[in-house]
Amino acid sequence: MTSTSTHAFWLAGRQATGDETFDVTSPWDGRTVGTVSVPTDAQVEEAVAAAYAVKDEFAATPAHVRAAALNHVADRLGERTEEIAQLISAENGKPIKWARGEVGRAVSVFRFAAEEARRFNGGEAQRLDTDAGGVGRLALTRRFSRGVVLGIAPFNFPLNLCAHKVAPALAVGAPIILKPAPATPLSGLILGELLAETDIPAGSWSVLTVANDKMPALVQDERLPVISFTGSDKVGYAIMDSVPRKHCTLELGGNGAAVVLGDFSSEEDLDWAATRIATFSNYQGGQSCISVQRVIADASVYDRLVPKIVAAVEAQVTGDPSDPSTEVGPLVDENAAKRVESWVDEAVEAGARLLTGGKRDGASYAPTVLADLPADVTLSCEEVFGPVLSVQKVDGEKEAFEAVNSSKYGLQAGLFTHDIQAAFRGHRALEVGGVIVGDVPSYRADQMPYGGVKQSGVGREGVRYAMDDYTYERVMVLTGIDL
Ligand code: SIN
Repeated sequence: MTSTSTHAFWLAGRQATGDETFDVTSPWDGRTVGTVSVPTDAQVEEAVAAAYAVKDEFAATPAHVRAAALNHVADRLGERTEEIAQLISAENGKPIKWARGEVGRAVSVFRFAAEEARRFNGGEAQRLDTDAGGVGRLALTRRFSRGVVLGIAPFNFPLNLCAHKVAPALAVGAPIILKPAPATPLSGLILGELLAETDIPAGSWSVLTVANDKMPALVQDERLPVISFTGSDKVGYAIMDSVPRKHCTLELGGNGAAVVLGDFSSEEDLDWAATRIATFSNYQGGQSCISVQRVIADASVYDRLVPKIVAAVEAQVTGDPSDPSTEVGPLVDENAAKRVESWVDEAVEAGARLLTGGKRDGASYAPTVLADLPADVTLSCEEVFGPVLSVQKVDGEKEAFEAVNSSKYGLQAGLFTHDIQAAFRGHRALEVGGVIVGDVPSYRADQMPYGGVKQSGVGREGVRYAMDDYTYERVMVLTGIDL
């Protein structure tokens, strides 16, 4: 998919163009997928002023109006699935089968948000006559919007991670300024097209293709009290440190571990684990914060599991993302692939054994498996964000959980076991935001709480959880009530 005309951005609900443009190119073949207009400083100011001006009116919009708008976006995403999936695939390099799945998830996000908008009130009544001084008093709590949200989205799910910023904001009546990733802005701009078809106040949303170097000023703007950022830990914590009094949600990196315990040992078990691990260390070229980067397997299953993983990784179909049979496409650009290559080379030089992969071709990097990874190399310590996994042998559950927790990250972990007690022990012991029992860490349903601990961030997404995050509890005490 290639567009010859310049894509406008969305300024307070209407299309606008600035003085400059940039090109969006396909990571697969380098063709220009689209040319995008960049807002001027004055246009950014106009969008922020409009969002701020409309915040009280928008917060007071009836739930059914917000729900109808969210449902409309869900319907239209569904109707335009194929076109939007082609666009995601073209701008991001994501294989078309994964891009279609991403559009389906974005439909769900808007649908859940419509449902939650109808039932959301956070309301609770609390009697206060528990002390003599509270006789005749009743506390009512409701949740209110914190104000305008600045949503900063990454390139790896160019549509769905924009949806996770926009839909909960609109559901609670909070205006949003969305900034899509510079590498993949076209999917975010499509959301603008669909929002423009709704009845919500024009100033309540903007999609601004602002250059990264203009973002510090926007981050500092006091009219934007909430920042929801998805991306690297380095940038995320730099944002939070620069505005310590703002409410920040940071969805940051991970180096997802899949633990295979000794009881998960039949041929069928190990085939399932190997297939899931191979698929989800390589989906999106490994460019997911919850892709499998580390396999931590009990010594009793390790020798049977590893050849199965290697075979399943080698069976991954790589190549042209527009081909429906392709499972693994390119990384977002050649520099990303070169970085992955340098980390693997460093690990091999330090003594890691390359079991398969280890080759780069332009922006593509071959699905790669390493064993005996030294603890101090970059691949052991950082998020690779590429199609690379390492396998590690451990002796028992305790050692496995310690290995997971040895990371500075804590987003999600997978735990292959049939033992429900081990599952509960893992849930207690693992320092992560989510434990996926019987599967890889890469499982995410869009309504469940999603987020990390340690360097993986603060706050939670997942529609309802982001709605909580974008609002705060305000209590009203009634006096003279006949309780
Ligand atoms: C992420 O990379 O953090 C998002 C993963 C997902 O939504 O599946």
